[in-house]
Amino acid sequence: MARTSKHDLVQAAARARQRAVAPYSKFKVGAALLTRAGEIITGANVESASYGLTCCAERVALFNALTGGRRSFVAVAVVARAPGGPMPCGACRQLLAEYAPRAVVWVADSRALRAIKEFTVRELLPAAFVSVPQEARGRSSRRSAARR
Ligand code: THU
Repeated sequence: MARTSKHDLVQAAARARQRAVAPYSKFKVGAALLTRAGEIITGANVESASYGLTCCAERVALFNALTGGRRSFVAVAVVARAPGGPMPCGACRQLLAEYAPRAVVWVADSRALRAIKEFTVRELLPAAFVSVPQEARGRSSRRSAARR
């Protein structure tokens, strides 16, 4: 498979953006994940009339990839009509920290796809919470309350 450049991944995110379902905000976002094997998995934001149920493009792409059996990600591109490119929200940063901790994040404005800003997941969410401490698992609440 040919090596995917950051431009290719940003283009894939821009194409995915066209499938956004954003009737409320009208803010269409596309995301594309690159797996270590070189596959590209995309997603776009989906909004709900119950606004809080909305899911961002990054998480749609991540859930799509994870439930398709992919586990190892090297990069994620995010595209929207936003000056400088859209920055992933806190919830998406958390999920990326858990499932794509070593990924590079590329963001671009849909009107300037070649002006790509680069971040790492680590810098977007330093000191992330990524797992429940082992000692908190497998105890009855009474025993753990007694040990507190
Ligand atoms: N949104 C994303 O898809 N990704 C982000 O990183 C930020 C926000 C979406 C959620 C919602 O559909 C719309 O943008 C406005 O917040």
